[in-house]
Amino acid sequence: MHQALQNILNLIEQSGTLTPEQKQSAADRVKEADKAFAIIEFKLDRTEKVKRTTAILLEETIQELEQKREAVEKSHAALQQSLEELRAAQAQLIQSEKMASLGELTAGIAHEIQNPLNFVKNFSEVSSELLEEMKEEVDKGHYEEVKAIADDVKQNLEKILHHGKRADGIVKGMLQHSRASTGQKEPADINALADEYLRLAYHGLRAKDKTFNAATKTEYDTNIGTVNVIPQDIGRVILNLITNAFYALAEKKKLDAGSYEPLVTVRTMKVGDNVEIHVEDNGNGIPQKVLDKIFQPFFTTKPTGQGTGLGLSLSYDIVKAHGGELKVQTEEGTGACFIINIPVHQ
Ligand SMILES: Nc1ncnc2c1ncn2[C@@H]1O[C@H](COP(=O)(O)OP(=O)(O)OP(=O)(O)O)[C@@H](O)[C@H]1O
Ligand SMILES: [Mg+2]
Repeated sequence: MHQALQNILNLIEQSGTLTPEQKQSAADRVKEADKAFAIIEFKLDRTEKVKRTTAILLEETIQELEQKREAVEKSHAALQQSLEELRAAQAQLIQSEKMASLGELTAGIAHEIQNPLNFVKNFSEVSSELLEEMKEEVDKGHYEEVKAIADDVKQNLEKILHHGKRADGIVKGMLQHSRASTGQKEPADINALADEYLRLAYHGLRAKDKTFNAATKTEYDTNIGTVNVIPQDIGRVILNLITNAFYALAEKKKLDAGSYEPLVTVRTMKVGDNVEIHVEDNGNGIPQKVLDKIFQPFFTTKPTGQGTGLGLSLSYDIVKAHGGELKVQTEEGTGACFIINIPVHQ
């Protein structure tokens, strides 16, 4: 029994004023108090133990959390590193895709430059002959003739200048295409852009495969005006779509050599506040299970080594960056129509 309670019990025992019954009852109460006291002491002791264990557990948890935090920090750094590596790889891929499409363009560009060069050559030859004639007329004193010939030569020189400028423009366009995009939007004549890339894609393909033949149709909306775009980027999208369309036509032609007449239609139109460029083909169209994946990077149905599968995914990103949408309508067996839709005011 607790010492203080024992003292009280002794006092009760020695008391002269209490009857034996009163003493017994007081003693019982003290014993009860002692029992209660013992229980409280036991509980206190247990609480103390719980407190100590909790403190130990807490310490352990804190250490564990600290370790986890360090691990998370480490994997964050690793993730950051691989993100940077991925970005670098992506930039490289985009550059190589650009180079690949430049390769596709080269044949078309050569064809386009050949044309003005022929003009320059022919007009120079003719002018040289005219100057010989002119000398003869001078000797004869036929000054009216001399003037007329001088006018002809002047006209020829103007034509030479015109075609020289054309070749210059083509080379500049080619350089622009191979350069990293300036990212600068500028007012561009969408119809001229579509037409330029249609010709380049067509002659590029023809140069590679002389047996390939397809009709092309253009339906340009002349009210479209200029639209603020990054011309070499939108040009690449058009080139990708037209190249895909020609590929689809060639595939269908392989299966159906008979009455099939391959046709690519390039169409522009204004729809509300948007401008649309349609590239439509009458190939085999795109089956649903392929359609679900065509915009995914690296998805291709071409034989291994022939396509990167980046054409449409890059095109999609470029159109998105112009605040627009790249959509497709297709019917199996009938053909596909890819639609670039960009807002005029971005
Ligand atoms: N006009 C089309 N008609 C039918 N299928 C098409 C057409 N355009 C695209 N596709 C399908 O979408 C796939 C992905 O096209 P994408 O341009 O992204 O890559 P690719 O043409 O296969 O390769 P790359 O463009 O690198 O040469 C093609 O492999 C083809 O299956
Ligand atoms: Mg492609």
